[in-house]
Amino acid sequence: MDIPKHIAIIMDGNGRWAQKRKLPRIAGHRQGVHAVREIVKYCGAIGVETLTLFAFSSENKHRSNEEVTLLFKLFLNVLAQEVKKLDKHNIKLKIIGDISLFPSNIQKTAIQAQTLLANNTGLTLVIAANYGGRWDIVNACKQVINSGINADKLNESNYAQYLSLQNNAIDLLIRSSGEQRISNFLLWNIAYSELYFTNTLWPDFNIDELDKAIKSFNRRNRRYGVIHE
Ligand code: IPE
Ligand code: IPE
Ligand code: MG
Repeated sequence: MDIPKHIAIIMDGNGRWAQKRKLPRIAGHRQGVHAVREIVKYCGAIGVETLTLFAFSSENKHRSNEEVTLLFKLFLNVLAQEVKKLDKHNIKLKIIGDISLFPSNIQKTAIQAQTLLANNTGLTLVIAANYGGRWDIVNACKQVINSGINADKLNESNYAQYLSLQNNAIDLLIRSSGEQRISNFLLWNIAYSELYFTNTLWPDFNIDELDKAIKSFNRRNRRYGVIHE
């Protein structure tokens, strides 16, 4: 079985999971953390190189103040609690997105966690927080302009150096909860991703679900626009 080098997941459906049980939406987000733990550990064990998780989109900050505040709190607690375990599993952490929006204690914890795990050599775990694919592209453009590069010298390869994930291609993009859209996740890096959608809500997502997605990935014929005679 071919293990995708880079898997990205739009972890959707926490709210619906909670609503089905007549629980507040945050209960779904909390339950979703269990799925994150299981999937991170499993990806490390099967040799995935990079796992990129969409935790909070640029647009999610427009949800109710209550939900956003509770999500920030959850993010901080999980980050602080899990860092030792991530280290034990030799996992490297990279947070992408505009975290300047986050309370300063989250920013500090995020920097500390990334520094602590920087020399690990196992799975790279990327967490996208206050991230949007359009933000990423504009953010890269700003840096390109500041670099003073001549427009004739700009190409896909040197442009991509300024993107959050540079030119790292996502091999397999998974979205849970039945929605079949990108919702402003990594736009540049999914150009040739294989897409996999499942109706399973994120808190119910598990190893079996990931195995199904990887099996499906193995049946794909990745052509990249080229005809193989
Ligand atoms: C995904 O679950 C997590 C975040 C966007 C933070 P949702 O909160 O979008 O759950 P649904 O889509 O309402 O079920
Ligand atoms: C995408 O889910 C963002 C995350 C999973 C973090 P949303 O629930 O925000 O997306 P839409 O609103 O259904 O497009
Ligand atoms: Mg959603």
